[in-house]
Amino acid sequence: MNVNDALTPVGNREEVALAAAQNGALGSPPDAKVNILLVDDRPDKLLALEAILSSLNQNLIQVHSGKEALRRLLKLDFAVILLDVSMPGMDGFETAALIRKRINSEHTPIIFITAIGNSENHIAKGYQLGAVDYMLAPIIPEILRTKVSVFVELYKKTELIQRQAEELRRDIAARQRAEEQISQLNQQLEQRVVALTEINRELEAFSYSISHDLRAPLRSMSSFAQAVLEDEGGKMSSQGLDYAKRIARSAKYMDTLLHDLLTYSRLTREETPPSSIRLEDIVNDVLTLVEGEIRSRGTSVEIVSPLGSVFAHLPTLKQILANLIGNGLKFVAPDRPSRLRISTSREQGFVRLWVEDNGIGIAPEHQQKIFGLFQRLHDAQTYPGTGIGLALVRKGAERMGGRAGVESNPGQGSRFWVDLPSMASANGE
Ligand SMILES: Nc1ncnc2c1ncn2[C@@H]1O[C@H](COP(=O)(O)OP(=O)(O)OP(=O)(O)O)[C@@H](O)[C@H]1O
Ligand SMILES: [Mg+2]
Repeated sequence: MNVNDALTPVGNREEVALAAAQNGALGSPPDAKVNILLVDDRPDKLLALEAILSSLNQNLIQVHSGKEALRRLLKLDFAVILLDVSMPGMDGFETAALIRKRINSEHTPIIFITAIGNSENHIAKGYQLGAVDYMLAPIIPEILRTKVSVFVELYKKTELIQRQAEELRRDIAARQRAEEQISQLNQQLEQRVVALTEINRELEAFSYSISHDLRAPLRSMSSFAQAVLEDEGGKMSSQGLDYAKRIARSAKYMDTLLHDLLTYSRLTREETPPSSIRLEDIVNDVLTLVEGEIRSRGTSVEIVSPLGSVFAHLPTLKQILANLIGNGLKFVAPDRPSRLRISTSREQGFVRLWVEDNGIGIAPEHQQKIFGLFQRLHDAQTYPGTGIGLALVRKGAERMGGRAGVESNPGQGSRFWVDLPSMASANGE
């Protein structure tokens, strides 16, 4: 190797070093090579340093003067600088002082290399200038390699920590942005809930007053049709009689419809404060109300005791039961004696109240929609009704913190259920 080879850094190595620098400390992968600066005016000493350190497999950048070292430090970051103390022109101490003055390199570790004869003075001065370590020539390769590799590791670790800190900063910033967005969305949502609640309230008030106000003219329609039938019936043709009866029937139907709508509207608006209810008591109350119908239809009713207790709103629960039992008595199959069975089972925190019939059943595709308002599967002649009953059942169950549903097969009867908070759950057990 000629002297120039030793003096001039190898092109490739230089490029690698620059590339590493351009990647930037934060962007470089953890196993990227780091830069080590070797400063000595004597090519043979640089060569010796390179021979010792080449096995570390990092970018060794060799310069021959303090000035050149400072130029390099302008462009690149270094893990450690090996600095010869005695150089012509600017010596190692002056170079170190200038290195420390620059922000980029104020903390870059410097290892001074000096001859044993000068050691005492040099060591003291070097430390004042912020040297991290001293190596006394002749150098022991193993010790130099170990020291440098410690700085290389330290540099890599610092880079890694900086990279992680940057990622963390980015994560935190992203999370903050996301949180801000969520809180904005939440605010919008709250505003919409307020607006919707207001609209809902107005709508309910409107439907309530409409239903309420419509009932008065309807009643007079109904009572005049009744009066015509009673007072004038004898003088009317059979067609006239038929018309008057239809008016009376329709008026009665509409009155029932408005009554049910009012009940539904009230259920959505009013409080439903719960209390402890023995199911057997309330079931018997409701059955008493429809005793006449049970007898006339010849329906056999079975109550599977004990039914237990629930935590519910008494009037709402009565309405639910009246609707389910009413449906069970109404949708009977023409070809068999009708049966009703009322029982309970336990769900987690709930009592499931079952009202089961052996009637006409419901096809699977209709089992959800019948819980909507005005959803009926039959004409009013075959099975009279307004289609509000099951909507009341579901709404009532939900208002009390429960649910309602049905299991059924066409022609094989239906099993309606309502989940109601059990007494144990109300007591926090
Ligand atoms: N036990 C049942 N067996 C078979 N079909 C049923 C049963 N209960 C309800 N249905 C079907 O679901 C529809 C809706 O029931 P819902 O109780 O809401 O209305 P309705 O009984 O027709 O009228 P309303 O109860 O308002 O007087 C019924 O019209 C019927 O088609
Ligand atoms: Mg009904």
